[in-house]
Amino acid sequence: MDKLSPITLAATGCTLIVTSVAVYKVFFSGSKDSSTASKEVVEEVEDTRPKLNIYFGSQTGTAEGLCRVVEREGKERGFNCEVIDLEDWEEDSHEEFIKNAKKAACNVFLMATYGEGEPTDNASQFIKLLKSETDDFEFPHTVFGLGNTQYEFYNAMGKLLDKKLSGEKLVPYGEGDDDKNLEEDFENWKDGVFWDGIGGLAGPSEESNAKPENANKVVWGKSAPTPTPNPSTKFYFDAKSSTITVNREILADTSKGANSTKHIEVTLPKGMKYNTADNAGILPHNPKALVNSLIAHLGFDGSATFSLSGSGEYKSIFPTPSTVHSTLTKYVDLLAPPRRSDLKLLAKYAPEGLSKDMLVRLSSKEGKQEYEDKILKSYVGIATLLTKKCTDIKLSFEDLINVAPRLQPRYYTISSSSSVHPKSLHMTVAVTKGVNSESGDKYVGVCSGHLAETSECDMFVKESSFKLPSDSTPIIMVGPGTGIAPMRALMQERVNRKAKGRNVLFFGCRKKNEDWLYREEMEEWVDKGNMELHLAFSREQKEKVYVQNVMENKGELIKDLVANQGAWVYVCGATRMGADVVKALKFVVGDAKVKDMQDKGELIQELWA
Ligand SMILES: Cc1cc2nc3c(=O)[nH]c(=O)nc-3n(C[C@H](O)[C@H](O)[C@H](O)COP(=O)(O)OP(=O)(O)OC[C@H]3O[C@@H](n4cnc5c(N)ncnc54)[C@H](O)[C@@H]3O)c2cc1C
Ligand SMILES: NC(=O)c1ccc[n+]([C@@H]2O[C@H](COP(=O)([O-])OP(=O)(O)OC[C@H]3O[C@@H](n4cnc5c(N)ncnc54)[C@H](OP(=O)(O)O)[C@@H]3O)[C@@H](O)[C@H]2O)c1
Ligand SMILES: Cc1cc2nc3c(=O)[nH]c(=O)nc-3n(C[C@H](O)[C@H](O)[C@H](O)COP(=O)(O)O)c2cc1C
Repeated sequence: MDKLSPITLAATGCTLIVTSVAVYKVFFSGSKDSSTASKEVVEEVEDTRPKLNIYFGSQTGTAEGLCRVVEREGKERGFNCEVIDLEDWEEDSHEEFIKNAKKAACNVFLMATYGEGEPTDNASQFIKLLKSETDDFEFPHTVFGLGNTQYEFYNAMGKLLDKKLSGEKLVPYGEGDDDKNLEEDFENWKDGVFWDGIGGLAGPSEESNAKPENANKVVWGKSAPTPTPNPSTKFYFDAKSSTITVNREILADTSKGANSTKHIEVTLPKGMKYNTADNAGILPHNPKALVNSLIAHLGFDGSATFSLSGSGEYKSIFPTPSTVHSTLTKYVDLLAPPRRSDLKLLAKYAPEGLSKDMLVRLSSKEGKQEYEDKILKSYVGIATLLTKKCTDIKLSFEDLINVAPRLQPRYYTISSSSSVHPKSLHMTVAVTKGVNSESGDKYVGVCSGHLAETSECDMFVKESSFKLPSDSTPIIMVGPGTGIAPMRALMQERVNRKAKGRNVLFFGCRKKNEDWLYREEMEEWVDKGNMELHLAFSREQKEKVYVQNVMENKGELIKDLVANQGAWVYVCGATRMGADVVKALKFVVGDAKVKDMQDKGELIQELWA
């Protein structure tokens, strides 16, 4: 909770300062000379604007970003807004949070779902409390869920929260589907339901075209204490620079196009540990040329060093001291298309003229189609927007880091066993490449492209849901394409442990001699009797053959292993494949058995879009 001390306030002169919790009025009793500050009378007066608490459960920043949109618009509509990271809501702070929630006119929760219908990391303690017997959760509220219909447990967390929270439901639950257009779903709910529903609670509106005060202040120079990390970006603080010792192409035939899949081995930095098939979190680096062109365009000194500060108990959004160049390389998302609400904010920094008009238009309701054509489909990130489209906007460095979205880490399922490789971890990375359908420009994914070229990376480890059963229990692994990553790790572990249970792998790729990843290793495991392998080459024949087709053909084997021998099943790779594989499994062993396996944690899936 940000409060300024009376002395700080006195030094600011006679003014009304609005913070997130209170309004302070400073009266001068006589001289305005700062040396007489002690004679000044400082009175605290309650902020009379209705309180709007905005909570986020977010893994990759979408829900958090949308909270900032609600905050900006809420302030303009006369609310006293507070954005709250659910990471902070735990047993010790529970009472304080409940008190704060009861005082608010509205508590809005933006909740993403992760894993298999599970909470995001930052909301896991909160959800545990919510699921426990306590019936404290009674306050005026509403919920918007963020999810993806490709996942079986669509928006499970949003729905859970909507069901469990008691107290007045101010507006109906809303939800967004990341498989289609999540931002549009959110805007429809926000503008058509949420603001309409709580508008009557608002204070006098304060819409302004002036740029907002920056929450993160830049202090140039080196000497600053180590900042307290902001929990929502703690991955920046946890990541350690790690050396890549092997970076090898593993597609057998790369001649037929631009595809590339890399086998990467990274030395674990001191103090970093992992469990077999955990996730490696990698901080991408923006391409050098892009960073340099933005620096040149905005006239920054790339080597200048700065620290971050802010009001109250400031929590830094990334580690400082840092240089301008390093910050724009690691912490600012320069490539991903900004949201419409980001463009609305950016318009406040533009001088009167064509750019401002365009940004205002694109962020308006009427400009939706134009936004889709000019920004989304063309994949125009903030760097291109500033250097090529709106060249009259001259942002200061401080403004830029406050306006632009944070660059998010990407996750890779570790493809090695920690007992076989205790000092290194392996990743199997498909390099995202394509041609932009609007501009015709070739592009490479920011993180996979960075990993493909580098000999070191900023890395942290995150727990995954992959666990092995007892050594005598059989396992069935389904991992086409890069979905092979955790299966390779599990196989290394099982072989190392001399596990007696059968290991059955269903692997799929396009062609036998093109993209059969880790073929030699698989053949060796088969030759040594460690593994039974079932292959689906999708493009060797006229009709596509996928892993789920082969699974159905091997229905009797799967049924016997699952129903009679208690086999655990692992599925990893693309979401669409995962959904089809679970359908095939249900066809083979029945819906009830699959549900039972899910409840017991014997069906483990890690799927990505
Ligand atoms: C838990 C988990 C585990 C994962 N494990 C693995 C793994 O083991 N191996 C693996 O390879 N991946 C894995 N992934 C996926 C990985 O995290 C990344 O999503 C993937 O590497 C793409 O990231 P990127 O930064 O390279 O691409 P991004 O830059 O994020 O691009 C992503 C998409 O944006 C679009 N795009 C980007 N640039 C442009 C442009 N200029 N024009 C038009 N469209 C564009 C494309 O649709 C592209 O596919 C995993 C994901 C999760 C969540
Ligand atoms: N630009 C391209 O043309 C291109 C091509 C290949 C790979 N890539 C890169 O490869 C990455 C993914 O590679 P990957 O190795 O993980 O996987 P992948 O090569 O895309 O797919 C692995 C195998 O799964 C099959 N498959 C597709 N849809 C499926 C479904 N619903 N159910 C079951 N199987 C299905 C594929 O068949 P089919 O592909 O035959 O349908 C292929 O045989 C992408 O991110 C991309 O960067 C790009
Ligand atoms: C590994 C992974 C697992 C996911 N699991 C689910 C899920 O079980 N149910 C769902 O509805 N959405 C699921 N999603 C989709 C996310 O909830 C969705 O993309 C959301 O917008 C992410 O919000 P965030 O960026 O704030 O974390 C998953 C996404 C990923 C990458």
